[in-house]
Amino acid sequence: MTEAGQWFESDPLWFKRAVFYEVHLRGFFDGNDDGSGDLRGLTDKLDYLQWLGIDCVWLLPMYPSPLRDGGYDISDFFTVHPDYGTVDDFKALIEAAHQRGIRVIADLVVNHTSADHPWFQEAREGGPKRDWYVWSETDDVYEEARIIFLDTEVSNWTWDPLASAYYWHRFFSHQPDLNYDNPEVQEAMLNVLRFWLDLGIDGFRLDAVPYLYEREGTNCENLPETHAYLKRLRSEIDAGYPDRVLLAEANQWPEDVVEYFGDGDECHMAFQFPVMPRMFMAVRREEAAPLYEILERTPSIPDSTQWGLFLRNHDELTLEMVTDDERDYMYEEYAKDPRMRLNLGIRRRLAPLLDGGRDEFELMHAILFSLPGSPVLYYGDEIGMGDNVYLGDRDGVRTPMQWTGDRNGGFSRADFAALYLPPLMDPVYGYQAVNVEAQLRTPTSFLRWLRRFIALRKEHPVFGLGSYEPQAADNPRIFAHVRRYEEDIVLCVHNLARSAQPVQLNLERFEGLIPEEMLGRTRFPRIGSLPYLLTLAPRGFYWFRLVQG
Ligand code: GLC
Repeated sequence: MTEAGQWFESDPLWFKRAVFYEVHLRGFFDGNDDGSGDLRGLTDKLDYLQWLGIDCVWLLPMYPSPLRDGGYDISDFFTVHPDYGTVDDFKALIEAAHQRGIRVIADLVVNHTSADHPWFQEAREGGPKRDWYVWSETDDVYEEARIIFLDTEVSNWTWDPLASAYYWHRFFSHQPDLNYDNPEVQEAMLNVLRFWLDLGIDGFRLDAVPYLYEREGTNCENLPETHAYLKRLRSEIDAGYPDRVLLAEANQWPEDVVEYFGDGDECHMAFQFPVMPRMFMAVRREEAAPLYEILERTPSIPDSTQWGLFLRNHDELTLEMVTDDERDYMYEEYAKDPRMRLNLGIRRRLAPLLDGGRDEFELMHAILFSLPGSPVLYYGDEIGMGDNVYLGDRDGVRTPMQWTGDRNGGFSRADFAALYLPPLMDPVYGYQAVNVEAQLRTPTSFLRWLRRFIALRKEHPVFGLGSYEPQAADNPRIFAHVRRYEEDIVLCVHNLARSAQPVQLNLERFEGLIPEEMLGRTRFPRIGSLPYLLTLAPRGFYWFRLVQG
């Protein structure tokens, strides 16, 4: 162990080279046979995550909660939901993870609490915490703020008869927003951070950060006051907790997301929301333009910060940051059944979105892993799990992890009726067809392919640390770019089309170098002064190191 009480050597920029894995604790593995996944279950499965090559686990909220929003409705910030175990189980998880070289971050919902939280109950009754939430006598205040959960909420204000006032909420009406204008609230949330940091957690995914403050005449998102408070959280980390990370969930346009990095003095990471739907658009349209355009529009970020790149997560595939036409296109292509739509998004998992196509899985992961940022995988996507659109809200993408073909998919030994959600049992994506055990036994499985691919990415720091340059190509179906870090040069070429494609790349600036394909180490012809010709298989890709020969 090092002085910091960690099992790692000090490395303040570890997150720039890491592969993250998002775990829905409730759905991962049931360690005590009660039908719900828990901390002990996850601890039991750390060997699997280590085998896969994961560097950091991101836990969905594990705090006490009435679970009306998957735990994003917290009713006590200082302990663990009894279904998941105890604070001691949490400590044991961190320790076991650190022993395997895996870090652990958790969701922290700073914007709101559950209506069941004692703070809110006290506030409603007019106690000293009244001003910890945002109240109004009328509901025509902050009218420029959009409604996020469009399918369930009609207003950001809800009348509370006990308080005789409206309270403000950006999400569900059972999730009142905290009032960050109140210094006590600011301090209370800092205490929450310290509590978990002192237990050894490696950082937080800061949920819903754009909405901390409200100001009349604005859309109440990304306000300067919000950034100032986030900087305060950051300075607390810098002062006492080395090597910890803040990852912002800010579903915003590129120019607004980058603000969450500050000058390297705000969040260490932020999700690359704008690029995500464009990856899906690009493969379906068989065109690279959506990717080039959004990357071109994305400002550069400080060296000490990093994007979190993802394909899918526990929410709907959000279409907030696309144009109306693009949204229509996405719905038309990816959500033909209206049940697949939720709010401004699509509630499906990766494998069904890609029609179960192995070439498409590989291509999408290749693009994801090639872009500047650190990839964040969603549990189950590594085996191509499906979804269940007949379940409510976002539950359809949160079903039990499929470990084996045994009862309950090997997720739990409880009676089927006791499970928190039914596992998938359909013939295509059900646990008898798709599970970890079967894919471990199949040398050519996607799981085994992805493990090799993760290892490849991690061998080459250029993917986490390098610059990005778009590479001009004479075929609009090809997405090509160059990554560089110190002496390393990597050329990535992806064919978005369903058919074989030729492409000529102008690589004059690399004349004399030899492209070495990274998976097989095969050397291709030396780059000369003429355009470089490649032919790519349908949905095929090449990653080359450009080496001296
Ligand atoms: C974030 C979470 C989402 C949750 C919402 C409200 O967007 O990802 O699952 O419902 O915050 O807390």
